[in-house]
Amino acid sequence: MNEVTLTPLSGPIIGQLNVPGDKSISHRAVILGALAEGTTNITNFLTGQDCLRTVEAFRQFGVSIEQEGNSLKINSKGPSHFTEPAEPLYFGNSGTTARLMLGVLAGLPFFTSVYGDASLTKRPMDRVVTPLRKMGVQSDGCSDGSYLPMAIRGGNIKGIDYTLPVKSAQVKSAVLLAGLLAEGVTNVTEETASRNHSENMLQAFGADIITKDHQIRITNLQTLKGTDVYVPGDISSAAFFMTAAAIVPGSKLTLTNVGLNDSRTGIIDVLRKMGAAVDISNKQTTGGEAFGDVTISSQKLKGVVIDGDIIPRLIDEIPIIALAATQAEGETVIRDAAELRLKETDRIEAVTDGLSRLGANIKPTEDGMVINGVSGLSGGSVAAYNDHRIAMMHAIASLITKQNVIIDDISSIAISYPDFFKHLNSITDKG
Ligand code: S3P
Repeated sequence: MNEVTLTPLSGPIIGQLNVPGDKSISHRAVILGALAEGTTNITNFLTGQDCLRTVEAFRQFGVSIEQEGNSLKINSKGPSHFTEPAEPLYFGNSGTTARLMLGVLAGLPFFTSVYGDASLTKRPMDRVVTPLRKMGVQSDGCSDGSYLPMAIRGGNIKGIDYTLPVKSAQVKSAVLLAGLLAEGVTNVTEETASRNHSENMLQAFGADIITKDHQIRITNLQTLKGTDVYVPGDISSAAFFMTAAAIVPGSKLTLTNVGLNDSRTGIIDVLRKMGAAVDISNKQTTGGEAFGDVTISSQKLKGVVIDGDIIPRLIDEIPIIALAATQAEGETVIRDAAELRLKETDRIEAVTDGLSRLGANIKPTEDGMVINGVSGLSGGSVAAYNDHRIAMMHAIASLITKQNVIIDDISSIAISYPDFFKHLNSITDKG
């Protein structure tokens, strides 16, 4: 347990921050760098615990991955040179490692067993296992293979046509990665667009992949070629500081090199709709990924409705959006977000419980929450539910509470943002 007591802030948030590399893109860079032949240099890699689980998995297959700060150098001869791991693979808290690696393992002709921490063990894997079994993989795990721990014997799989029953980039990516290693063609159809980093990066590494309307088509094993990858800053990490600047009166903050892929920018759309001033400058693209600088200043906010197709574009930002909504005039309704109950913890429960304890008027619903804003938050003791995004949301809440906020355990923040408090202190009067 790593408890903290955070004291209220007295001044505005002013300055500039360079948030760490994107978690989703970092995972995918390691996976494709390892599947490719040759050398892949990754810069601005996120050295959070989740991404390091993916690195460890490939080291267990015998791939050489050297780390120096937030740069990685991968030297690989491709999947036909991977060796069967002698030990089970440990995925810790990382849903992305688990789901994407199951897709990779489906295509590798050896036996692997995999497990995770208490949270990951409760998260559904049948959404990935179902299509992989259709491709011909042999797997078993708890509850007929629906949960970790799991054992996989991969190889000899065939391409499929698959329509995603859940709005999930992890499931889409697992099927595409398996499709890369499968015989024939794999078509994945998604009704609502989810983050497309896998598609962008597969293309950058030379895979035969085409996206048209809602369908992605990938053809089997072409040799991927090692490629250099710059990982833009994580908009999901930036979201905490964007919101801080939006809700602390008199603030103005610039976040540099933030990933601005359209499939991830729902937070910017929502903050603007609430009335926040958000400016984007220095926009560039690398490996199909847009990034740029985001400047946000505080304004009077108003409540909004958040539902439908925007949900996958901001799914990880809902905890911090809920905090923004407590400072917005009127009602904010979040719906169509039942997936939140299946994240690192049940985030509908964790957010509504925590913000209620701090004095907010917030009620859970089956698939979201309803917040009546602009009650001043009092402060108090909250639980992080062992979830990095819940812990960071409460830390940002402490900037606007009247009294101290005590968070029971902040160790989970190392999952996605090891320097979070260093960055927070650098832009507040606590620094
Ligand atoms: C991710 C996809 C999302 C997101 C997660 C990262 C990814 O999960 O919540 O943090 O990297 O593909 P789902 O695919 O389950 O929606």
